[in-house]
Amino acid sequence: MSETTLPPGDRGLPLLGETLDFLKDQFHFVDAHQARYGKVFRSNILFKDTALLVGAEGARIFNDESKVQRSGGMAPHIADLFGGTSLPLLDGEPHRQRKQQVMGAFTREALTQYLPVMDSVVARYLERWSAAGESTLTEDLKKLALEVIARTMVGSEGGKEFEENVADFKVMVKAFTAIPVPIPGTAFAKAKAAQGRIFERYRRVLAERVAKPTDDGLSRMLATPAEDGTRIAGEDAIKELHHFNLAGYITFAHMAHGLVALAQDDKLRERLRAEIAEHVGAGPITVEALHRMPLLENITREMKRRAPFVAVSFGKAKSEFTLEGKTVPAGWMVMLCNFASGNDPELFADPERFDPDRFAEGRAEDQKHPTGFFPQGVGEPLKGHKCAGVDFSTLLMKAFMVRLVRDYDTKLPKQDLSYQWEKIPPEYASGLRAVLSPVPSAP
Ligand code: HEM
Repeated sequence: MSETTLPPGDRGLPLLGETLDFLKDQFHFVDAHQARYGKVFRSNILFKDTALLVGAEGARIFNDESKVQRSGGMAPHIADLFGGTSLPLLDGEPHRQRKQQVMGAFTREALTQYLPVMDSVVARYLERWSAAGESTLTEDLKKLALEVIARTMVGSEGGKEFEENVADFKVMVKAFTAIPVPIPGTAFAKAKAAQGRIFERYRRVLAERVAKPTDDGLSRMLATPAEDGTRIAGEDAIKELHHFNLAGYITFAHMAHGLVALAQDDKLRERLRAEIAEHVGAGPITVEALHRMPLLENITREMKRRAPFVAVSFGKAKSEFTLEGKTVPAGWMVMLCNFASGNDPELFADPERFDPDRFAEGRAEDQKHPTGFFPQGVGEPLKGHKCAGVDFSTLLMKAFMVRLVRDYDTKLPKQDLSYQWEKIPPEYASGLRAVLSPVPSAP
């Protein structure tokens, strides 16, 4: 293929390519390359020719399974940290069957049962922060997200085992941006050891649920047959649980972003308070009430658009494809740039502004293109790779925002709220310090 039809870009250093730049800060790597080369560009990352795609048309191609496959798409060390082949790396019929089984953990009935669990965990953390005067929230928000996953998905009751899992989990996630060297003492080797301990704990829970099912996500997933009658079992179930943890964890970044955005915008906070007063009042939060609140829905979408979570999703060109006049050969790695796409000025006006009304009737910036807004993937979970936890994570974010805004006034002391972009998801440099005071009229 001629160089002129390949996507523009750099191959970087011999052998290493642009791997180090990419691993150092994936978000700015994408931004800098997009500014120079446009919405489709090439690189060499982790020893592979790679095409990076930004925007709605890139998302359409990335989700066309005749063009992009997921198997072989992740760098081997990332796939290893995911525990091997789970949903994000399956294609075709095996993917469809597994997705049907896994979605058993996320039915409407299951979500209705999870919401009070989410709400009580959220309420406990908020009370603790408020009682402490000033608190530093990032680490606690991570724990909150992990606790919600643990309680709903494996029926954890907290305690020592949960604390050990959180500690191991934090060791594990560090390795996602580390150089993958499996030598004792490196971040990657420590992560693998931590992953081994996490899997051991899951194996024990799995044995218990197989013997005696409950109503947690794991039991639901084990009980749900695919269309062909097959059920998930053994290590496959462990890998999916592990992925739930990795995926659920990132909601900490969305909750942190939402908390900051609303603390900084008095008018928006008062509008949300009014909507909460109308639909939820002082009583318990219900799924039905959350569904009736358009501003809350739009705030949640804006949290998903603006909170940097991951810079890219991974795939591999199954067949040659052309985008913006540039041809990506079969066999190349393909990365869809999630965060940059949600901030594409062609679709999103003043993209860096936190502006939930961009989703409201009349503007509906997310509807300008069928694959224009995809913070959790394109289409429907049962028909493709769209996030299995899309409704779960939305409920958690909504429960968090409703309790936070209804029951507390949040003040942010002077601090450095720039993002540490080298982390995935990026974190506020200050650790996010906040003072939560109970709202006098709150229950
Ligand atoms: C706001 C939080 C979350 C975000 C932004 C998010 C985002 C994503 C994205 C971008 C994908 C890939 C979509 C694609 O490849 O087309 C994905 C897939 C997935 N997510 Fe999430 N996710 C979130 C929360 C969760 C939660 C809480 C769970 C489970 C408890 C979850 C489970 C999954 C699974 C199992 C997949 C793989 C689906 C497949 O390949 O078929 N996610 N998510």
